[in-house]
Amino acid sequence: MELNGARVLVAGATGEIGSGLARDLHRRDARVAVAGRDRARLARVARECGAAPAFGFDAYRPDGCAAAVRAAARLWGGLDAVAVCVGVTAFGAAAEVDDAVAEHLLSVNALAPMALLRAAVPLVGRGGALAAVTGVVVDRPVPRMADYSAAKSALAAWLDALRRELRAAGVRVVDVRLPHVATAFADRAVTGSPPRLPPGLPPSDAIRTVAEALAHKEGVVRHTSPAPAAGAAR
Ligand SMILES: NC(=O)c1ccc[n+]([C@@H]2O[C@H](COP(=O)([O-])OP(=O)(O)OC[C@H]3O[C@@H](n4cnc5c(N)ncnc54)[C@H](OP(=O)(O)O)[C@@H]3O)[C@@H](O)[C@H]2O)c1
Repeated sequence: MELNGARVLVAGATGEIGSGLARDLHRRDARVAVAGRDRARLARVARECGAAPAFGFDAYRPDGCAAAVRAAARLWGGLDAVAVCVGVTAFGAAAEVDDAVAEHLLSVNALAPMALLRAAVPLVGRGGALAAVTGVVVDRPVPRMADYSAAKSALAAWLDALRRELRAAGVRVVDVRLPHVATAFADRAVTGSPPRLPPGLPPSDAIRTVAEALAHKEGVVRHTSPAPAAGAAR
């Protein structure tokens, strides 16, 4: 898909990766609409993307998720791509995590992204793309992050089924499994404190991976570091 001129909705555009993605797509001359929860951050990213159309939603309101997607599509008579960068984590032993926290994690990391992308299915035509950020926790669930790992895995399974449903329609479905990224995501956990984490991927690298996946890739996309230059020290 040519990003130049593409009509793209970024949901979770108030977050670090989502806002970076929206700005990156705007720089590549895509027509960007932004959706998010925090009103002030949403207004800021809309300004940074050349007064982009902006839509509020809360992950707890699936009807509001769908309404944001439909409103963006109405503006332009359809969408070429939707990227979902919504998420929240929690830390703690599986046996000790509160049921309300588990429900919150499933709502934000799985049910809301599904509601956003479900609403987008009839609005994105052949050649278009539907993408969501999951994480390496899908490949290797992490102790003390069981509910987050399970919620991202639920989203990944749903994306895999959707990808096969939409193959004949020519719509790409992309699951971007990012490794740990150097944003303050872990510090915004709903409960618990993060373990000592290794240095994360620079957000700019994560954003480029998501943008390129949205433009060209299908299925599971993992970040790959560039190969060292020939003759470089190993
Ligand atoms: N950072 C990492 O290490 C990492 C690694 C792998 C995957 N990921 C995934 O990458 C995505 C973006 O993460 P990030 O690092 O950019 O973190 P972030 O800055 O905390 O962004 C999280 C986003 O989720 C939104 N969100 C959270 N709760 C919400 C709710 N109840 N309703 C609506 N929106 C809600 C936030 O919206 P508001 O700001 O408007 O509240 C924000 O846009 C997430 O899906 C995360 O799981 C992150």
